[in-house]
Amino acid sequence: MDNIGLGNLFENNRSWAAALTDSDPDFFTRLAEQQQPKYLWIGCADSRVPANEIVGLAPGGVFVHRNIANVVVHSDLNCLSVIQYAVDVLRVEHIIVTGHYSCGGVAAAIDGGRHGLIDNWLRHIQDVAEQHRDELDEITDPAQRVNKMCELNVIAQVNNVARTTVVQDAWDKGQEIALHGWIYDLRDGLLRDLNVTTTGE
Ligand code: CO
Repeated sequence: MDNIGLGNLFENNRSWAAALTDSDPDFFTRLAEQQQPKYLWIGCADSRVPANEIVGLAPGGVFVHRNIANVVVHSDLNCLSVIQYAVDVLRVEHIIVTGHYSCGGVAAAIDGGRHGLIDNWLRHIQDVAEQHRDELDEITDPAQRVNKMCELNVIAQVNNVARTTVVQDAWDKGQEIALHGWIYDLRDGLLRDLNVTTTGE
């Protein structure tokens, strides 16, 4: 992948669009009319965790919000706007927070060091780590501690999604939305369900 130049990206794009059109001539014209994804994916910005590819969905299949370490903050208008649009307009049925093991953002949050501006973002993860201090301290292997924290972070962010006014109001109105916490393993390409699904009932 390293020797792919910028010009190749346009070539790649033309072949990709041609292949899709070959197999489904109306694909783009149909999709241009509207999007009806059933899923909102909130994931890490990490280049190795691309939402559509991992779950095998074509364009139109999943609405996506990604940031460093898949954090849902109650004052983040970017993330909240994505959730509102997904819930109120697209009427997605599932919101999936997907973390991944060996997340650099999570690792940086708990390594005790300084990393610049991003520390202010990672503070949200440190807050979660504080709530699980004893459990984390028991894990002596640093990589395992990071991975445990990756799971705890996903669970905390699912709770944060559940507590947004958007999701609370939707549930109050009887709109069916299930929230899920998943984690992706970079080493085998597989998703695991953390079994924290909630439907607000
Ligand atoms: Co990450």
